[in-house]
Amino acid sequence: MPVTLLTHPLIQHKLTILRDIETGVKVFREVVGEMATLMCYEAMRELPLKDVKVMTPVAEANVKALAGKKLALVPILRAGLGMVDGILTLIPSAKVAHIGLYRDPETLEAVEYYCKMPPDIAERDCFILDPMLATGNTAVEAARFLKEAGARSIKLLTILSAPPGIGKMEKAHPDVDIITCAIDGHLNDHGYIVPGLGDAGDRIFGTK
Ligand code: URA
Repeated sequence: MPVTLLTHPLIQHKLTILRDIETGVKVFREVVGEMATLMCYEAMRELPLKDVKVMTPVAEANVKALAGKKLALVPILRAGLGMVDGILTLIPSAKVAHIGLYRDPETLEAVEYYCKMPPDIAERDCFILDPMLATGNTAVEAARFLKEAGARSIKLLTILSAPPGIGKMEKAHPDVDIITCAIDGHLNDHGYIVPGLGDAGDRIFGTK
């Protein structure tokens, strides 16, 4: 399962803004969206193209257009919601599935509370969206739900990740590509990424 680390200076600069404890909810939310747009650029790299002809003001040109591959964005509630609009900016026709999973604070295991997918999810390229890949429990469960629903092409877009989560995904879903902007050192006793950026959901929605 390839892990793609996005080292572009714009992405790294924006990630530093997210990490900063002084960054307030408005800017945090905006920057999460901007990073999702930039990450989407990388995730779309292999979209198939078809040959088309267009008439320019000067001459007919043989050029390329997207072959119309169907996509589904799959934010893991709730922090993943922060990445949806940034991607819809580039792909306004993508469908959006929702998977509600929370981490049991004691066991850190993923617990499902909501799941709603488009009926044709099996035919779509699926992008799981979660800003944080920490223990990996929620991402593993989300990929399992999608596969149970028939999805075959799945990528995970996660702003910040940690080795335990990457290892867990690699073991459970070796076919799921991970696109991330940094791999931090470790997790603390509460399952938070260190140094990380704190609780992404709380910082996006201002709930702390
Ligand atoms: N989820 C978060 O929001 N932050 C972490 O550091 C880990 C999981």
